[in-house]
Amino acid sequence: MEDVIFQPLKFRNLTVKNRLFRSSISGRWDNYNGSGSQARINWETKFARGGIGAIITSFVPVHIRGRIMPNYAMIDHDDKIPFWRAVGNAVHEYDCRFIMQLSHSGRQRDVPGAENLMNRALSSTDTMDSFHGLLCQAMTLQEIKQTIDHFAQGARRAREAGLDGVELHASHGYLFTQFLSSAINDRKDEYGGPLENRARFLLDVIHAIRREVGRDFHLQVKINAVDNNNALYPWEKKGNTLEESIQICKWVEQAGADALHVSIGSMFPHPQLPSGGFPLDEANWWYGNMLSAGVRGYFNYTLFHYKLLRPLFYAFWNRTKKERPLEGVCAEEAREVKKAVSIPVINTGGYQSGALIRKVISEGWCDGVTIARPLIANNDLPHILQRGEEPDRPCSFCNRCLVNALGNPLGCYDVRRYNGDRDAMIREVMTVYDPAPFR
Ligand SMILES: Cc1cc2nc3c(=O)[nH]c(=O)nc-3n(C[C@H](O)[C@H](O)[C@H](O)COP(=O)(O)O)c2cc1C
Ligand code: SF4
Repeated sequence: MEDVIFQPLKFRNLTVKNRLFRSSISGRWDNYNGSGSQARINWETKFARGGIGAIITSFVPVHIRGRIMPNYAMIDHDDKIPFWRAVGNAVHEYDCRFIMQLSHSGRQRDVPGAENLMNRALSSTDTMDSFHGLLCQAMTLQEIKQTIDHFAQGARRAREAGLDGVELHASHGYLFTQFLSSAINDRKDEYGGPLENRARFLLDVIHAIRREVGRDFHLQVKINAVDNNNALYPWEKKGNTLEESIQICKWVEQAGADALHVSIGSMFPHPQLPSGGFPLDEANWWYGNMLSAGVRGYFNYTLFHYKLLRPLFYAFWNRTKKERPLEGVCAEEAREVKKAVSIPVINTGGYQSGALIRKVISEGWCDGVTIARPLIANNDLPHILQRGEEPDRPCSFCNRCLVNALGNPLGCYDVRRYNGDRDAMIREVMTVYDPAPFR
């Protein structure tokens, strides 16, 4: 019998050769000013070679004010089109589709970089984020209009670059979440208040993209099925419920999206996603990069740095984790979204074992899964699954890749996966610089 994982997935305007997508993974691959580099091409090609059906890029800012950190390639100007065409072409050689994640940080701008040092981040609100204390200011109607246009132009550029579609990053606490979430959006105008007003910004962007690129370019939306905004600090508001998110998903479908990508969590990282550990022994080295970024930076740094204080952080961070499995962390929410819409649903959150992936697809919980960390650990996971095997050295969900990404090249930093051989680990991480950016 044919393996359900390796049956093609047909969207309205796009067919993917199997049910496995590389979920977005941001790393500091590119040039400080947002132009692209060879390291990015090497990085994306690794996964295409490994057999993944489609790659969703990392967070690609549509404007410099919406960048999370320096060294992220952007799509803010037509001069970026040739670079993205080169990345897309490299990936296409392996019959892998390439979808650009159009993004804006809003207030969740971790390291502003020189260009953003002197301005506050744009958001739906004036209230800083609760984790790092990142400061922001509520966008004016004029700024909202401009940002809608930045997304539409980003989609046009992605299309001109020959990419296979775009994904709007409306999850994990970035700008779209800041509008959608009842815990964050405190506006009094037509973009705040009841759900239909909070959804307006996202729906306006979808309409603007459709006007700009037409109906035949693939457009999907990554969305929180639940915010669980009080998962870290219980005194915060809870945010959007599953029922509210399902209503948003229905509107997103009506507005012309071709697929939904279901996730959870009103900030990133969130105690429930990515699942697994939070390695404070390494976080304390890298969190220094964020010391000056938010007004809670020093508080967090102190919590991470002093071993005696760490149990306090863990008491909050792990409070609601046990409600969630490591693998298929929001699969049940995806199943509920899928029941409510007609467009395909893909799901993120800890997918690694073939058995679970087969189950959620064959039982109709979702149409495909997206994978991030298990592919960092084993770039060729699709080939392993296709042989009917499970990985010998699976991702341990330790999240060392995540905390290292603030300062180091992205890669798997769990030395246990390299039998304790640290040099081998670093050699593997550094393969992304081969071929070298300058020769
Ligand atoms: C280092 C790192 C960077 C990430 N960057 C992004 C990103 O740019 N955009 C996004 O939507 N999600 C991002 N994520 C979240 C993943 O796409 C994914 O939704 C999450 O890690 C759960 O999937 P996994 O368990 O397969 O890793 C990132 C995750 C990691 C670990
Ligand atoms: S560091 Fe490696 S093992 Fe740990 S979560 Fe990241 S990819 Fe998985």
